[in-house]
Amino acid sequence: MPKVDLSVNLAGMSMKNPVCVASGTFGFGQEYSEFFDLSELGGICAKGLTLNPREGNPGPRIAETPMGILNSVGLQNPGVDAFIATELPYLRQFDVKVIANISGNTPEEYGIMCEKLAGAGVDMIEVNISCPNVKAGGLAYGTRPELAAEVTEVAKSHAGKVPVMVKLSPNVTDITEIARAVEGAGADALSLINTIRGMRIDVNTRRPILKMNTGGLSGPAVLPVAVRMVWEVAQCVKVPILGMGGIAKGEDAAQMMLAGATAVAVGTALFADPFTPIKVREGLCEIAARQGLSAVRELTGGVKPW
Ligand SMILES: Cc1cc2nc3c(=O)[nH]c(=O)nc-3n(C[C@H](O)[C@H](O)[C@H](O)COP(=O)(O)O)c2cc1C
Repeated sequence: MPKVDLSVNLAGMSMKNPVCVASGTFGFGQEYSEFFDLSELGGICAKGLTLNPREGNPGPRIAETPMGILNSVGLQNPGVDAFIATELPYLRQFDVKVIANISGNTPEEYGIMCEKLAGAGVDMIEVNISCPNVKAGGLAYGTRPELAAEVTEVAKSHAGKVPVMVKLSPNVTDITEIARAVEGAGADALSLINTIRGMRIDVNTRRPILKMNTGGLSGPAVLPVAVRMVWEVAQCVKVPILGMGGIAKGEDAAQMMLAGATAVAVGTALFADPFTPIKVREGLCEIAARQGLSAVRELTGGVKPW
């Protein structure tokens, strides 16, 4: 098969291939390094960080669904300082882009974290304005354009030269409204989608399966929603998109890129098969070669709508 150039450039950050792993599904990489060399990946979106350590929500906090899972983990993490002291040096051993993912209770908290992470030398900061599983802040920032723009502005003004990517929530009526607001506020890139709010109930006990009652749906079930949202957003912004939501094979990633994503991230599919990102990369490469492309980036935005 002819050689396909897999490299992509996401807001000035060059990656050797477009396949990343999604925040919260890959920890800080250590567990997965037992399966493959982390340098095989284009980028790692590290687990979501908060200013101070968080224990997360009480269990049960994961429930299976047809073709997906519901989670209400609630940003369990050791805090931004522990990430910089311990996890970042570990990740730096590999030839892979490190994208730190942050959630704050206030715009000021986002600012403080950006300053610390930019100083520590991460490659990109992913600003999560869309976590459905935390009571304070979280989703509110992702569902109101003016708040989303405010958080983006504060993040940008504290991130120095490090590009800022804002992660959008699908739990809105019109995702393009938020996308335009954060682009206007200076976001260098957008990532989407985060999880979709959902609920399961045990009919015998009449109790919700998750202790938090509701959670976020992810996995193959959400792929068509994610592709649709990436397609809509790609048409109304100029900044590049990291597409995610339900990607489990090369064809899924190719759909996401055709819809307009520059790069993709694999999340929930990792739980069933830790090698998924490698398989997605190989699958993308095969599709590009079969279609006679010399570079996989030629897929981006190539959908031909009726
Ligand atoms: C267990 C779990 C934890 C997650 N934690 C985070 C997080 O900390 N920050 C974040 O921005 N997204 C988080 N997400 C959302 C994923 O990064 C991703 O956007 C979403 O799951 C859709 O992709 P997927 O269907 O491939 O999993 C989490 C998802 C799961 C399943």
